[in-house]
Amino acid sequence: MENFTTHTKKVTINYIKSQKNKSPLTMITAYDALFAKIFDANVDMILVGDSLEMSFGGKDDTLKATVDSMIYHTKAVCNGAKTSLIITDMPFGSVTTKEETLKNAIKIYQETNADAVKIEGGSQRAEIISHLCKNAIAVVGHIGLTPQSARSEGGYIVKGKDEENVKKLIEDAKAVEKAGAFCIVVEGVVSKVATQIARSVNVPVIGIGAGNEVDGQVLVWSDAFGFFDEFKPKFVKRFLHGKNLVEKALLEYINEVKTREFPSKENSYQ
Ligand code: KIV
Repeated sequence: MENFTTHTKKVTINYIKSQKNKSPLTMITAYDALFAKIFDANVDMILVGDSLEMSFGGKDDTLKATVDSMIYHTKAVCNGAKTSLIITDMPFGSVTTKEETLKNAIKIYQETNADAVKIEGGSQRAEIISHLCKNAIAVVGHIGLTPQSARSEGGYIVKGKDEENVKKLIEDAKAVEKAGAFCIVVEGVVSKVATQIARSVNVPVIGIGAGNEVDGQVLVWSDAFGFFDEFKPKFVKRFLHGKNLVEKALLEYINEVKTREFPSKENSYQ
């Protein structure tokens, strides 16, 4: 395994932009300081995703996240991570009018150290993204399969399967870029279409379920490290079987408590 160097200085938006068509960028989600500290400086970007509702909160979708819950988790992540670029999801219901969205984004900027916010949606969100950017809020776009729309669309539907949709996705990417997004997450899109999207814009395209020929990858940490095993979407690779490891350690702990092996003298005040 190659040893890729970690960042020694705070990752900036200009750095992320400069990585278009270069070595793939890395992004992973985090929802607390503990894991943020492990990921910090190793990955380019940490995403406080509204996926926390599912991963951390055990809910069926991401829709119940609020601006306040995103702020709570972003504060925790920022306490643990000082070097990677931190991005916070604008949750469902927080992106309505441009004035309301700006108010919510300002609240996130003022109450946390997030470097940028992420907004789901393509051309229909361009005006809002542009308004935020004009008001000094850095924005990451998110197009393709957008989980906040899953309920209204009737499920998590992979995009880019017909010509009309491919055309729309490319229009979306260009509109989001033109509006000022410095990076675009492309989720759940047929690989060759995601590649086409990446080639049609000058900002980095970060894929999740979007194949290998984009400018970087993002995964939800609990998927990547095997802490969530109810189902495994096709695009997820488990780099660790975390749940099994924790279960094994938990059984050892229970066993040692029951047999009075723990706490030993070493773990007791004399
Ligand atoms: O909420 C999230 O974690 C996300 C990623 C899946 C991109 O938006």
